Amino acid sequence: METSKSYRELFTFGEDYGTSEFKFGPSSLGDVPDAIESRGYFPDITEATYGVYGFQTPRPIIVGPEVSEHLESRSDLTERLVHPMTSGLIESSDDRAWTVVKEITRYGLKRYAPSTAGFDGFNCVSALFSGSPRYMYEKIFAIHEEINKEEGRKLVKNVTVIPQPLAVAIAQKAITCTVIEAGHGNTQITPISKAVINSSLLTLNRGGADVDALAGEILRDAGFGDLAKERKFVKIFKETVGLIPMDLKKVMENDHEEKFRFVFKIPGTRISVDLGGAAWQRFLLGEFFFNPENEIFQSYYKRGFRRPTDSYLKGDVVAGTTNLIEAVTKSIERCSFEIQANLYHNILLSGGNFAWRVPPGLEEYATDAATKIMTMLEASGVNNAKVITTTNPQYNVWQGLIVYGLYLPENYEWKWERQEGWILVTQ
Ligand SMILES: Nc1ncnc2c1ncn2[C@@H]1O[C@H](COP(=O)(O)OP(=O)(O)OP(=O)(O)O)[C@@H](O)[C@H]1O
Ligand SMILES: [Mg+2]
Repeated sequence: METSKSYRELFTFGEDYGTSEFKFGPSSLGDVPDAIESRGYFPDITEATYGVYGFQTPRPIIVGPEVSEHLESRSDLTERLVHPMTSGLIESSDDRAWTVVKEITRYGLKRYAPSTAGFDGFNCVSALFSGSPRYMYEKIFAIHEEINKEEGRKLVKNVTVIPQPLAVAIAQKAITCTVIEAGHGNTQITPISKAVINSSLLTLNRGGADVDALAGEILRDAGFGDLAKERKFVKIFKETVGLIPMDLKKVMENDHEEKFRFVFKIPGTRISVDLGGAAWQRFLLGEFFFNPENEIFQSYYKRGFRRPTDSYLKGDVVAGTTNLIEAVTKSIERCSFEIQANLYHNILLSGGNFAWRVPPGLEEYATDAATKIMTMLEASGVNNAKVITTTNPQYNVWQGLIVYGLYLPENYEWKWERQEGWILVTQ
């Protein structure tokens, strides 16, 4: 162990509970955390045979990379493969979901806990989505406490929770900014002026998962209905072929463009997806996230494709299909006019749902998230906006958690009124 480093520098541990991935690890990992999928598998194993498979208990749960080795038929997936969060929220009574959260937390802590003498538990900084109710904070605190007890050793010394967008602002050292955090489950639009401006916080109930749902429809329409049932397949398909259109109309006017064509294959299998003349639909995936109100999507809604659900901004209903820019301006316009220009001038995009690529040769039709937002803002009358996609957008929250943990004084106790400070975890 290096002795020149303080306890905090050595043992600050970030935990970003994403809907799709749990990003975790100690500060020593640098800029890129470890990550596992936010899911747990409850295998169908009887009490008679669990020992045969190397499990210690009759009701095991599997998390981490091992999950893939245990999956059985497609029909089992829905019932026994549990993704604990939808849109960032977990119901307080959803025991299976909380069990998965506990197991992914334990997995992360055990993976990095050193056996050195000076180790007295990590200072864990956890991130939840910004609209998390109080019971979610309490559950996260309780889970850390229980893990210490169950493991019979101190893996956790202190724990705290902060909202994901605040972690992004901290990672970017931004004092006045608007963070748009779009992950798998939701999109958090958060004006920040030193702290989160709570009255302007707007969470749209749509994220990468909703784009996946549309990708599923497109696959079904093209005759790949069986593959469309597997979440992970659909997600990889979307990430590989999905594009943000600069202008969807122009794409549709040139829908037979050879350049749009692709063949999507899974190596080592016979799986191959070719949409043929419908390849232009790859642009619908990007458009859907930015503008699900576009009339092209009406035909999908009419045949039962589920619209993203509504959310609330201080009592006002915000439709799940609200165009992203309308939501951003709505949120910023709740702040004093004196800081609005600054909030537009430092818009930070974080989260995997902003990681869309522009493949070489398609620059005329496809664009990146920051350019799309800037163009849409300009069209809506905001001229001086500056939009930045953070480097490694999926890992920004975790980076901010580490910085926060390094600066939060160890003797600063948790205060519910301010939702900051450490909860001391006993063994
Ligand atoms: N290159 C890409 N193009 C499009 N989408 C992508 C790309 N890479 C990742 N994504 C999507 O980003 C989402 C995951 O992002 P992220 O890890 O930030 O989410 P999360 O933290 O798990 O979820 P949340 O923050 O909503 O709880 C997934 O929907 C994933 O498919
Ligand atoms: Mg996230």
